[in-house]
Amino acid sequence: MRMSRIIGHRGLAGEAPENTLAGIRLAAEYGLKWVEVDVTLLGDGTTVLFHDRRLNRTTNKNGRLQSLTCSELETIDAGSWFSEQFSGEKIPQLGAALKLIKELGLGVNLELKTNGCSEPKLVETVVKTIAEVEFLKDRLLVSSFNYRALVRFSDCSDIQVGCLFERLPVNWHKKALRVNAVSIHLSSKRTSKRQISRVKSKGYELYCHTVNSLTVARQLIDDGVDGVFSDYPLPDD
Ligand code: G3P
Ligand code: MG
Repeated sequence: MRMSRIIGHRGLAGEAPENTLAGIRLAAEYGLKWVEVDVTLLGDGTTVLFHDRRLNRTTNKNGRLQSLTCSELETIDAGSWFSEQFSGEKIPQLGAALKLIKELGLGVNLELKTNGCSEPKLVETVVKTIAEVEFLKDRLLVSSFNYRALVRFSDCSDIQVGCLFERLPVNWHKKALRVNAVSIHLSSKRTSKRQISRVKSKGYELYCHTVNSLTVARQLIDDGVDGVFSDYPLPDD
């Protein structure tokens, strides 16, 4: 198995503000081995960890993420909305996040979120940043709901990729073969036992998001799922 049974979702989104360095640190403190984070671009091409198109939900600012430039990142509080304890936490750049993840000895699933930004630019900067940080390839997996971006990524990189689908499409295997995927990522709510067997019988690893109940996590793993993305540090047994 490439990733772990429990993967911290957006860092560790139930315990710390999502997609922040504090969340990644906390995931390591709780003993998690892998985290998932969302990666996207600011308007000036800076690569950051962020989930939404807009700033409103997870920062103290309004407006579009893409209207920001790198120099404005320092002025934005991405922690207080979650709890005062995280006040002053910043939107991290991908390079800083990868350095920290490497230092902590974690593995990471980078989920490419194009969210209206340029796909070629996002792919290019992610490939470049991974190389600059010299991140270990076997501790890294790239996924995306945007299949076009994933094709582009797999065509210019030998880093392992996973196909992330809203629901398993009829032609999922063809799509997975095209990008040489090692894993399939699905919503836990839209994954049937039959789909689990189908994916596993073709030799793919299967990961489900977002699972915050230990009972559900255990059931999915019993049914053959390799691991789950969770906002909480569920016990790994
Ligand atoms: O990569 C799994 C999961 O994070 C996908 O959904 O919306 O939480 O990024 P979302
Ligand atoms: Mg995600």
